[in-house]
Amino acid sequence: MRTLRPFLLSAALVALALNQGACFGEGSYRQGAGEEPDSGTCVASSDNDAVRLALAPACEGCHVNGNKPIFASLAAFESGLVYNERYVKRGDPENSLLIQMLKGTAPGSYPQMPPGQPYDQLVANGRVTMTIAQVEQWIRDLKAAPAQLETPSPAEFRVRRLNAEEMVVSLMDQLGLTLEDFVSTSNPDWRNRAYVVNWNKFFVWPGDWHPGISGEYVSDPRSIERFEALGGGNSLLYRKKDAAFGPSAAQALVQMSQAWCGRAVDKQNNKAVLRFVTLADTSTKNPDAVQKNLRNLYLRMLGQPPDDAELKALYEQVYLPLEAQNTRLAWVGTCAALIRHPLWITY
Ligand code: HEC
Repeated sequence: MRTLRPFLLSAALVALALNQGACFGEGSYRQGAGEEPDSGTCVASSDNDAVRLALAPACEGCHVNGNKPIFASLAAFESGLVYNERYVKRGDPENSLLIQMLKGTAPGSYPQMPPGQPYDQLVANGRVTMTIAQVEQWIRDLKAAPAQLETPSPAEFRVRRLNAEEMVVSLMDQLGLTLEDFVSTSNPDWRNRAYVVNWNKFFVWPGDWHPGISGEYVSDPRSIERFEALGGGNSLLYRKKDAAFGPSAAQALVQMSQAWCGRAVDKQNNKAVLRFVTLADTSTKNPDAVQKNLRNLYLRMLGQPPDDAELKALYEQVYLPLEAQNTRLAWVGTCAALIRHPLWITY
């Protein structure tokens, strides 16, 4: 079960948590003042964890995700590397592929890890602190694998950000929007031709999806640029998707959430955001309807009902200040805030 932290704080935390460096995985402990994400340093929870954290600066860049995510967590490191006989022969560093890889003498297609860079050089320039001799000593002293290693652990569930495709598709659906809200439908065959993007709609769309974006007007290519800013890839340009949630993705999502929530609120007969209220209802005139709609919108966007404290924070910190200007702004702002919520961004 997740515990929900105060609304606005948690948004900041998730951005940081998704961008963490070496202090990742369920097994590592964090030193320092409680929840504050930037005050701590990594503290190893065991000898294996110490080796993992020590090697991480040289390896994690390529092995947090991908084919061999052996640096994704302590459990991944132990099951994928430490207790995998192919790489580590307990008590026998000379015949351990891991050591040969660090020394650049491993047989096969990948004689050296990291590829093309002697590990000793990384020690010499201070990028890593553990020497090959120390890694060898750890292998000599390594104890047998604990019995429960093979058991899947629910605690190892890893949160990841939604990728850009998921964001675009699920947001359209949640907000009751369709392609017709963004692209020109004046040609009867528009679905099968490159889309002509309507001006000022803040369309966001993958560059490699059929039938493509026309490029006829200034606004068109922006749809793809925004998608890439959101962290999306483009297989036609060999552009990889971004697994982290960095500043450009955050900025793109802020703009997209505001623009798309605005379209959803303004769209005739669209119940996605305004299910139990109209723009004529206010917190003084019809407080129950406002609360009911807030609760419903939270559930719709985040897939779980809010607890009372969270609902109160959303109402007092987001909805009410904007309602002082007008109800449209209040619902657009509340809708957009929910899209920036950690529960929305992560999967
Ligand atoms: C620049 C990227 C990169 C870095 C940094 C890197 N690796 Fe690799 N590693 C690869 C690639 C590419 C492969 C082979 C393809 C695959 O399995 O993903 C690989 C494969 C491996 C394998 C499996 C080899 C096999 O033949 O089964 C191990 C073990 C490994 N790396 C360990 C490490 C360790 C330990 C470090 C840090 C000291 C490290 N890697 C750093 C890119 C990298």
